[in-house]
Amino acid sequence: MSVPQHVAIIMDGNGRWAERRGQARTAGHRRGVEAVRAAVESAGELGVKYLTLFAFSSENWRRPQQEVNDLMGLLKFFIRRDLAELHRENIKIRVIGDKASLKADILSLLTEAEELTKANTAMQLIIAFNYGGRDEIARAARRLAARVSQGDLNAEDIREEDIGASLDTAGIPDPDLLIRTSGEQRISNFLLWQAAYAEFVFLPCLWPDFDRKAFEEALDIYQCRNRRFGKTASQGLALGT
Ligand code: IPE
Ligand code: IPE
Ligand code: MG
Repeated sequence: MSVPQHVAIIMDGNGRWAERRGQARTAGHRRGVEAVRAAVESAGELGVKYLTLFAFSSENWRRPQQEVNDLMGLLKFFIRRDLAELHRENIKIRVIGDKASLKADILSLLTEAEELTKANTAMQLIIAFNYGGRDEIARAARRLAARVSQGDLNAEDIREEDIGASLDTAGIPDPDLLIRTSGEQRISNFLLWQAAYAEFVFLPCLWPDFDRKAFEEALDIYQCRNRRFGKTASQGLALGT
């Protein structure tokens, strides 16, 4: 059985989960944090090496101020409550997204999480926070342009690898499997560059209901896919090669 090395998840449906129960959207986000905890555990047990979770998009600032505040508060709650345990479990945390516009308290918690766990080796947990694929590519373009203007790089020599190495995900292999919960079938500006050859699995369950069984279901669907990377099916490309 071939387990995807890197699984990326668009954790969607917290609001609908709460609304269906006549509760405030925040209640759904709170349950969503518990589903995050369970997903990290399942990923480790199932042998996934990189787990990327879309926690807050660069477009989510457009939500009502109260909801934005709640989401910021929940990220802080999650790091404060679970960091020590994630570290004990030998998990390395990495944050992708635009850190420059985050408040100082959030930034320092995220930096602390990255620093504390930087030598860990069991699994990488990549948290996409204030993340947007287009924003990430634009920041990478600015970095490359700065190198060109400093005379450190020739514009004609810019290769795909240079772009990849200038993204927030530098050094992280591309996702093999991209899961989105809640039934929506769109990418919502997530990992635009990196998902070039990812397999997409859309699950109907809402994020707070995403459990070990749902994770296994997504992996089962992935096993049945035939990845070709531009070649023909008869060129013998099994999963994971
Ligand atoms: C996902 O759930 C959480 C974030 C985007 C932060 P939503 O809040 O988008 O839930 P729905 O899509 O409104 O149900
Ligand atoms: C994508 O979900 C962002 C996260 C899961 C953090 P959204 O709920 O914000 O996406 P849209 O707006 O429905 O496309
Ligand atoms: Mg949503």
